[in-house]
Amino acid sequence: MPSDLSLSDKAKLVAAKRACEFVHDGMKLGLGTGSTAAWMVRCLAERVNKEGLKVKGVPTSIQTADLAEELGIEVITLDSAGQLDLTIDGTDEFDGDLNLIKGGGGALLREKIVATASDKIIVIADNGKHVERLGRFPLPVEVLSFGLKSSQFLIRSLLESQNVDSRIIKTRMLDNVPFVTDEGNYILDLYLGQIGDVAALNLALNQIPGVVENGLFVGLCDMVIVGSPDGTVTEKTKGPNLKL
Ligand code: A5P
Repeated sequence: MPSDLSLSDKAKLVAAKRACEFVHDGMKLGLGTGSTAAWMVRCLAERVNKEGLKVKGVPTSIQTADLAEELGIEVITLDSAGQLDLTIDGTDEFDGDLNLIKGGGGALLREKIVATASDKIIVIADNGKHVERLGRFPLPVEVLSFGLKSSQFLIRSLLESQNVDSRIIKTRMLDNVPFVTDEGNYILDLYLGQIGDVAALNLALNQIPGVVENGLFVGLCDMVIVGSPDGTVTEKTKGPNLKL
């Protein structure tokens, strides 16, 4: 481990390293997005380059595709891959049922498509990401740019009937203009405080015509690996153990 890493990076790196131990020769992998997932791409590249590990990766963002290619990981499209063996990704929050909020980096749409096309999903995180109830982190909702205000109005109306602590909606901005995702859409960040029923909110949001996808990952994650700066990891699984 490089000695000049921040405590947070040390935690992310050990979680990423442990997750890469679940990768075997011949696997087709979903490659997540964000700073923790970037550590996973580096660890995976090390195994590819030093051990000759043979894997193919489907990146969940342009950013991850660029990093994976630069480090020598073979990158393929999801369409050419078909079903994936395993996806390793970061998260913004996870709860005791391994439900997640993702999309802080804006890649939630591709991340959810890739996760749903995977046999298993391992999420890597530091302990700051664990919450009793999801919602402290603003929930990203990817919407079409067409009819942005109309979608915002419909989401606001929906939230009236949802068990949440707060109902603030902000358009995500970058350099004073709306942030644009890899798929050319906008993101509304929902400041909810706590979400009472994540499964219901996930389904209801996706019923709104202008909503492309939301950042709630319900029942998708099989294992969360939490790294600590001291080099230890804790693993939480949905079932008794993870078979790959
Ligand atoms: C990207 O859109 C997100 O879903 C990331 O997985 C999430 O924001 C975690 O990112 P960090 O690992 O940088 O905290």
